[in-house]
Amino acid sequence: MVQGGYGEKFSDRPIMTAQQYFLEQQRQHFPDASGEFSWLLSGITLATKMIQAKVRRAGLVDILGEQGAVNVQGEEQQKLDVYANRALLHCLGVRDSVGVLASEENEEPITVRSRSANAKYAIVFDPLDGSSNIDVNVSVGTIFSILRRPESAPTAADDGTSDVLQPGTTQVAAGYVVYGSSTILVYTTGQGVHGFTLDPSVGAYVLSHENIRIPERGKYYSVNEAYQDGFPPGYRDYLDRLRRKHYSSRYIGSLVADFHRTLLRGGVFLYPPTVDHPTGKLRLLYEANPIAFIAEQAGGSASNGTGRVMESVPSSIHQRTPLIVGGRAEMEEFARCVEAP
Ligand code: AHG
Ligand code: MN
Ligand code: MN
Repeated sequence: MVQGGYGEKFSDRPIMTAQQYFLEQQRQHFPDASGEFSWLLSGITLATKMIQAKVRRAGLVDILGEQGAVNVQGEEQQKLDVYANRALLHCLGVRDSVGVLASEENEEPITVRSRSANAKYAIVFDPLDGSSNIDVNVSVGTIFSILRRPESAPTAADDGTSDVLQPGTTQVAAGYVVYGSSTILVYTTGQGVHGFTLDPSVGAYVLSHENIRIPERGKYYSVNEAYQDGFPPGYRDYLDRLRRKHYSSRYIGSLVADFHRTLLRGGVFLYPPTVDHPTGKLRLLYEANPIAFIAEQAGGSASNGTGRVMESVPSSIHQRTPLIVGGRAEMEEFARCVEAP
């Protein structure tokens, strides 16, 4: 019997694309749904395919640039942030169900359809996460969170801010794409966490990791240890305890990539309060909340240092938060050490 990748198993089980999977899940869990939500998700898959194509080419441009011109890498990197943002704004902005888009790259939310009754959703995203890693060929990603807009009628002054200032518990879907050794999309709509690897030969995201569960206990902690002297004492104590338990350390410096490893291999990722960022560095709406939703759906949890990240009520769209996210054993120990010492 032939075993291996999905291609080898093609004859016994046809491939399942992300689009088919969205529709299938919708039929099972929301039989009355119109299909507009899967159409919206397809905007994200399209945009991230465009971004990954550009990210892959950026590697080539960087190599050429190093040989021929000064500063091309820096300019290219900046272009990629802008390109990723435009790709998402364009692909999502043309979906009728999208009313508001808020991005790390834009100071204010963008209202695309303020008064249309069909425009039920607001989407917040980090178009290119870990962008400082592009020019050294290290994994980067995209993170997104989908919210339902509140039912109340928008006021004339409403710029979309109130649509996105919702706690993470109200997210209807969240996900990320890692542009790594392969391109993988991981998402949840509250029915478990599923991963789809982009098959470049057919240009489709194909189901590769169904129902991901974060290991109960892992062997890595992931934190920027250079800032350790500025961490609050409970965090330092927590890291000491992990070291005494022979944990090893991994830190990429791209949240998506560090979290993706944590999701698959277990352990804990931390971005604590630091001297430079006393309220944390990561953004609540489009970094911490979507990662927290995925972690919880995979059997782990996420804290802001005092409690559940997803219960934080945001007061501004670019608000920062400490983020500690991981498997059950590590998060229980974190709660004992830091949340309620
Ligand atoms: P972004 O590239 O979207 O600005 O995000 C960078 C973030 C995140 O990906 C990562 O976890 C963190 O910055 C790393 O920060 P330090 O360099 O301070 O460790
Ligand atoms: Mn980021
Ligand atoms: Mn970013």
